[in-house]
Amino acid sequence: MPSSWPTGQVCHWKELREAAAAIVCSPSETAARDRVSQYDKWEEIYKKYRSESLPWELGEPRPVLVELIKSQKVTPKGKALDICCGLGTNTIYLAQAGFETTGLDISKTAVARAKAKALQAGVDIRFLVSSALDFAFKTDEFDFIFDMGCFHHILPADRPRFIHGIRRVLKEGRHYFMVCFSDRNGSAWNHFSKGEILNIFSPHFDLMDMQHFSSLEGDGRIRFFYATLLRR
Ligand SMILES: C[S@@+](CC[C@H](N)C(=O)[O-])C[C@H]1O[C@@H](n2cnc3c(N)ncnc32)[C@H](O)[C@@H]1O
Repeated sequence: MPSSWPTGQVCHWKELREAAAAIVCSPSETAARDRVSQYDKWEEIYKKYRSESLPWELGEPRPVLVELIKSQKVTPKGKALDICCGLGTNTIYLAQAGFETTGLDISKTAVARAKAKALQAGVDIRFLVSSALDFAFKTDEFDFIFDMGCFHHILPADRPRFIHGIRRVLKEGRHYFMVCFSDRNGSAWNHFSKGEILNIFSPHFDLMDMQHFSSLEGDGRIRFFYATLLRR
């Protein structure tokens, strides 16, 4: 864990996981309100922590995304959406690779930092502060959607709405690349097995490719992920 974490502060992934687990188990009359506040936590996190101390921020584009583009399984042409773009590191890579790129995140602080980084990098990107559950894109707007750590933070009750939104704005025959926590990190509501991912997504997308990988994250810990390439 980097020295920039306040003394005695546990990694906020753990904080978030525990909070979300409590919400998932909470009585139904408070669940909807709690779900909204769960997503609001992200703004607090970005305000509280410096960019370099965020576990998911590698300071460079995700190798799994770079490899996908290099493999030519996805051609960097047309419009790309980086859903839950955070500080925009992957968003900038998508723009540099050749996409006309949009980044969306619920945290206005994250989006402000992402905009500043894009300006510094000299790339033209449309950044939006919006919920991944409630965006105003046109139907069939995108040729590629990248999701690094977005779906796995969507609470189970909201997953159908999230998937419906992704499908609606992705053109037919185009790709959604979804990277989420694997159950090899241990048991949690948002750690998925291969079977669970297939159960959730196969009614809506064709499975093109799936890989399991480990990654040394920004907090110095190894975490395990599934990267799943889906086609609408
Ligand atoms: C683990 S971070 C990943 C950020 C970025 N994709 C990356 O890889 O650097 C998860 C991101 O999802 C955003 N997020 C969480 N729930 C969201 C929602 N409902 N709508 C939009 N963004 C959301 C958070 O603000 C945060 O930036």
